[in-house]
Amino acid sequence: MKGDRTVKNRAQRRMPIVEALLEYQRQKTISFHVPGHKHGAGLPNLTRIWGKTIFGHDLTIMPDLDSIYKPHGVIAEAQRLAAEAFKAEHAFFMVNGTTSAIQGMLMAALDPGDKVIVPRNVHKSIVSGLILSGAEPIYVQPPIDDYLGVVRGMTADSVRQALRQYPEAKAVFTINTTYYGMSPELEAIVEIAHDHGIPVLVDEAHGAHLAFHPLLPPAAMEVGADAAASSTHKLAGSLTQSSMLFIRGPHLDPLEVKSTLNLTQTTSPSYLLLASLDAARQHMYFHGEELLTETINLANWARHEINWNIPGLYVYGNDLVGMPGCPAYDPTKLVISVRALGISGFEVERILRQGFHIQVDLSDLYNVLAVVTIGDTKETVRALVEALRQIASRFKPRDVREEKIELPPIPSLAYLPREAYYSDTRRIPLVQAAGRIVAEMLMAYPPGIPLIAPGEILTQDIIDYVLSIKEQDVQIYGTEDPTAEFIRVIR
Ligand SMILES: Cc1ncc(COP(=O)(O)O)c(C=O)c1O
Repeated sequence: MKGDRTVKNRAQRRMPIVEALLEYQRQKTISFHVPGHKHGAGLPNLTRIWGKTIFGHDLTIMPDLDSIYKPHGVIAEAQRLAAEAFKAEHAFFMVNGTTSAIQGMLMAALDPGDKVIVPRNVHKSIVSGLILSGAEPIYVQPPIDDYLGVVRGMTADSVRQALRQYPEAKAVFTINTTYYGMSPELEAIVEIAHDHGIPVLVDEAHGAHLAFHPLLPPAAMEVGADAAASSTHKLAGSLTQSSMLFIRGPHLDPLEVKSTLNLTQTTSPSYLLLASLDAARQHMYFHGEELLTETINLANWARHEINWNIPGLYVYGNDLVGMPGCPAYDPTKLVISVRALGISGFEVERILRQGFHIQVDLSDLYNVLAVVTIGDTKETVRALVEALRQIASRFKPRDVREEKIELPPIPSLAYLPREAYYSDTRRIPLVQAAGRIVAEMLMAYPPGIPLIAPGEILTQDIIDYVLSIKEQDVQIYGTEDPTAEFIRVIR
């Protein structure tokens, strides 16, 4: 059963990397190796602030501590324990975030020119993975929630349809859950892809905690996906930048995956990051369910309080379950819709930061996103709710007409993202770029979806759309030019 940890494996008590670092300290080892700060002595100004312990543990590869390039000692052991805890067959520790796990996963599963089905609301790490792998994206549009102004999860129907149209596709890529906590129709997507004989690759940047609680949406590994890139640092407690890549099943060869990861992985990993992955795995294995029960209760308390007792604010919850692209959601994500207050999410983020010293994870035109985690307490969540209550009381709630977000159609692909990246390009004014093949991405929040991606032909519809949303405080990202007045196109 999901989240069932009643029969615990005692071997999970071990923290092989953490223990090896402690042993190094216990032996009062004299360092004639890098890092050159030598336990902090070479950087006293920072050692005074951070303390000697951190510097003492900031080590890198040596025989006692294994090698990330070819793990056979404590890293290999820690990865085996992580694979079991996260219900995978193999786990790879990553020290350059989920971005590098996603890039490695795409490069390992796909050859240049291979087609991969991808939801349109991809993070930029997928676009870079497409450039590195040379794969061809077949984008499908997930449903948009018009009230929240956000994209929901990928639907099984869209995958079925894409595979009918492109039976030669070599993989399906999906996101579990979206930044806003909505699940794709994952079990059905896995079934469809496997019936087709191809793997499912999952961006689980926002799903490191999912495997540890029965009330959370299923983790990719639990429903038979083939690979999942997971930001342990975001929601499972490890240090920023530390992530894991999981694989299972016959589609991906672990040795080949490791060789691919080695192409871009540093040979001098931070053991602070590796040790934190080891510790986060142990902590989540033994205490994850209990901690997440508390986390979910706190988030649901805030959800109830905001929805029932703060006029003008709304947080989605069970009301969205069952809508296309939302078979389940992550209750620990509080997507606070501020539309009815008549101000933007950006503005509420600013007031929370400057007026209440509260920093949220994300804001967009209509919402602020507050992430409740295993690190929260009743006091922190209460502080957020009270701040929101005070902010909301300054505005008179009004009826909001739900406006349909009509995105321009996904433009056609003329060049593979890799070809566009390596082409001769120049920057020209956006308004003069209709009909040109672009070499960069243009992304709009809301709804957090690329309007154009490298290799696609820019249409007048997209230019008009960008001009119209620019007038409404919508944020445009992705182009080298921060104002998006100019765009890089292929000569
Ligand atoms: C959906 C999604 N995928 C991938 C990433 C990349 O993860 P990381 O920051 O660990 O590299 C992020 C980061 O925010 C993300 O939101």
